[in-house]
Amino acid sequence: MDNINQDIVINAPVDEPARQEFYMDRCHELIEEFIIKNGKAPTFHVATFGCQMNAHDSEKLVGILERIGYREVDDEDKADFVIFNTCTVRENANQKLYGHLGSLKKRKQGNKDMLIGICGCMMQQPEIVEHIKEKYRFVDLVFGTFNFYKMAELLYTRLSGNDKQIVEVLSAPEKNVERLPEKRKYNFKSGVNIMYGCNNFCTYCIVPYVRGRERSRTPEDILSEVKCLADQGYVEIMLLGQNVNSYGVNYLEESDIIKQNPDYDFPDLLNDVCKIDGIKRVRFMTSHPKDLSDKLIDVIAENPKVARHIHLPVQSGSSKILKAMNRRYTKEDYMALVDKIRAKLPDVSLTTDIMVGFPGETDEDIQDTIDIVRYAKYDQAFTFIYSVRTGTPAAKMEQLPPELVNERFNKVLEVVRTTCAETSARFVGQTKEVLVECINDHMDGYMTGRMDNNILVHFPGDESLIGSFVQVKLLEARGFYYIGEIA
Ligand code: 5AD
Ligand code: SF4
Repeated sequence: MDNINQDIVINAPVDEPARQEFYMDRCHELIEEFIIKNGKAPTFHVATFGCQMNAHDSEKLVGILERIGYREVDDEDKADFVIFNTCTVRENANQKLYGHLGSLKKRKQGNKDMLIGICGCMMQQPEIVEHIKEKYRFVDLVFGTFNFYKMAELLYTRLSGNDKQIVEVLSAPEKNVERLPEKRKYNFKSGVNIMYGCNNFCTYCIVPYVRGRERSRTPEDILSEVKCLADQGYVEIMLLGQNVNSYGVNYLEESDIIKQNPDYDFPDLLNDVCKIDGIKRVRFMTSHPKDLSDKLIDVIAENPKVARHIHLPVQSGSSKILKAMNRRYTKEDYMALVDKIRAKLPDVSLTTDIMVGFPGETDEDIQDTIDIVRYAKYDQAFTFIYSVRTGTPAAKMEQLPPELVNERFNKVLEVVRTTCAETSARFVGQTKEVLVECINDHMDGYMTGRMDNNILVHFPGDESLIGSFVQVKLLEARGFYYIGEIA
């Protein structure tokens, strides 16, 4: 902790969320003064990098800022307060942040009211925070993944006259704060956190270090959030966690429900979410192959509300590399799991993450990865070049030459492209239920929707359809998406 004057407002409540409510009110008063002086509300923009978790955290930041009185703008270059919610899973995510900061520096020099905040996974790495403190003094607020709920408190410190850089990053979660404002991006579908952190320690991955130990929210909190969303008209829910299949192993806090029912697991939760009236489609992300149970496959099979889509990151097809990655399954285990899923869910879409260039990988290992891609018949595969993350076990292993890795990456990518395009084209001619999400940016008069298997469909239609389910005939497959027409 650094630079923080904890006693800046003597009578602030100690308990959460009352403390943050208090600071949101204090910030609101300052924003009212700004509006009187300037004749308009200050604007903000939250730029989000990375995964669905970050996207959902950003909705919480937006909720807090709107409650304070800021007005959201889409354009980073027009915002008085820009917040970067960062990702650090690969090095290129870090580089993106520095690019943005560089271009904002000038604008900030010409605008004394402008604020810049950085939060999220990248800020959990002490060397990066040091770098920001040293090289990016013009950044106003720095906070991490464990205290982003405190944004109003930190912002108040800054707005009420402290012109120093405010840095507060915790090394582990202190408390879980529920019931703060959230502004969801859509009003018909939403992510809901079911757990935070990860205990798997895959040897390449930084997530367990920056997101902390795995902790599940109680079923009570999750179900009441989903009920509340259903009451507001939400129809699709995405249950979010780094490894949803180990939901319930470690809880955030003891609650009566847990004491009464210690065996409550992810399939039970999924079942209970599906029972909520008004919710029509339920998704979940991400599944670790080592923990995907028969019970889960059965719950999906028995429950038409659960989307026919499983994101099942394989990372590599080589048992040797999987062992070095600490994934705790072999090529054969993974193939057997795919068979088991397809036997009970014949129409399921499988998607995956693949990594190329892990230390020690050979041409043979790459061939194993290609075998798996062909075997699993993924609808989509996100393919990444392995990126060294400081502090992870793999960072200490002997790294492969980048040229070799690039060459192999292109080879894998080519197989991924052709096989995924073939697989995802299998629905041409069929009529599918589509949840309409938005206006298509590229084709005039077209809307974009999503099938339950997560594949996008673009079809002629109008704005009034957003948020509703329509039957769409799939006319043409174009790699990752379809062109269709309302049936
Ligand atoms: N380098 C490259 N890709 C990574 N991923 C996680 N860590 C790394 C890394 N160090 C990928 C994995 C994971 C996805 C979210 O990001 O494939 O499933
Ligand atoms: Fe990272 Fe592995 Fe945890 Fe996924 S399961 S977040 S890859 S450590």
